[in-house]
Amino acid sequence: MYGNFQTKNEPVILGLESSCDETAAAIVRGRSLICSEIISSATEQAKFGGVVPEIASRAHTDAVDEVTRRALSSAHMTVRDLDAVAVTYGAGLLGALLVGLSFAKTLAYSLNVPLIAVNHIRGHMAAAYLTDPEIRPPYITLLASGGHTAILHTKTELDSAVLGGTCDDAAGEAFDKVARTLGLEYPGGVNIERLARSGRPCIKFPSPLIRRDGGFAFSYSGLKTAVLNYVHNAEQRGEEINLADVACSFQHAAVDPLAEQAVRCAKKLGVRTIVAGGGVVANGYLRSQLSSLCNANNLRLILPEKKFCTDNAAMIAEEGYTQYRHGNFSSMDVNARAQIPL
Ligand code: KG4
Ligand code: ZN
Repeated sequence: MYGNFQTKNEPVILGLESSCDETAAAIVRGRSLICSEIISSATEQAKFGGVVPEIASRAHTDAVDEVTRRALSSAHMTVRDLDAVAVTYGAGLLGALLVGLSFAKTLAYSLNVPLIAVNHIRGHMAAAYLTDPEIRPPYITLLASGGHTAILHTKTELDSAVLGGTCDDAAGEAFDKVARTLGLEYPGGVNIERLARSGRPCIKFPSPLIRRDGGFAFSYSGLKTAVLNYVHNAEQRGEEINLADVACSFQHAAVDPLAEQAVRCAKKLGVRTIVAGGGVVANGYLRSQLSSLCNANNLRLILPEKKFCTDNAAMIAEEGYTQYRHGNFSSMDVNARAQIPL
């Protein structure tokens, strides 16, 4: 019979991630990361200019066993050493999620260890534990990924209130769409950052930060359209534009409000720490803006390493550990979910 688990203080947890184009496995003991492995289908997806769900599912099917073997081998462990299996169950591409989830269920069931279904977004927020295992709420969380953009007030380990989120596109989505407009390859964010290095922020684009219902929100769709119009208008007039200046100006417009608003929220709520996570937090300009604003305002900033900002399984294992400590185990009928509200 599956169940009846003996819990431990420092459990060995396997984390699995397959929500988009990275198949990843990582192992933690308590909060300590032992190993983190990724097999990515990004190069394959780049040929199509973005992630093709069916190709992602097939790539996960090919890679999930291998990436888990690599993790166990680099940890010098076998499956018998695992005390729990944590896996992303959403949000993400349904077929892609099902590959990781089915694999995790089978493994947890056969080993009779807890299965922990992890919300991918909470995983991004937990990546900060890889930088500082001792972080304690309350703090402000800046979340900026391909699917989500929000500033949250993390009050306890399990409870984060959204202070303001995006009402249309996410920041990463805007990076990807602007990249395509500028003729840059997928994945767009990192290529915009590269191009922006040789440009100047000399074009005025609208701010994505808006006032809403007495609070604030982000709207990246307007910014994206403004860049699109700028490029198309220039093309129609036969004018040469400096693509590096466009990339740099867009990057400033997209990123500055995120850093500034996170700091404003911390000051308003009297919170001394800011934590950040999600693919866009790998952006060097955002990281340096956050650092200098936090320094100037005497706030502590916890940034995950760049490789733990984009999708990985170490963050899933870390969030798995939080849920393990609270006894939040999943039953075998847990299903994958394409969307989970923040
Ligand atoms: O968190 P993530 O890996 O996947 C989601 O959960 O969505 O985020 C991916 C997003 C993509 O939109 C990508 O363009 C963006 O993060 N991104 C970046 C950078 N690296 C990844 N955006 C700006 N600058 C970067 N260096
Ligand atoms: Zn992600």
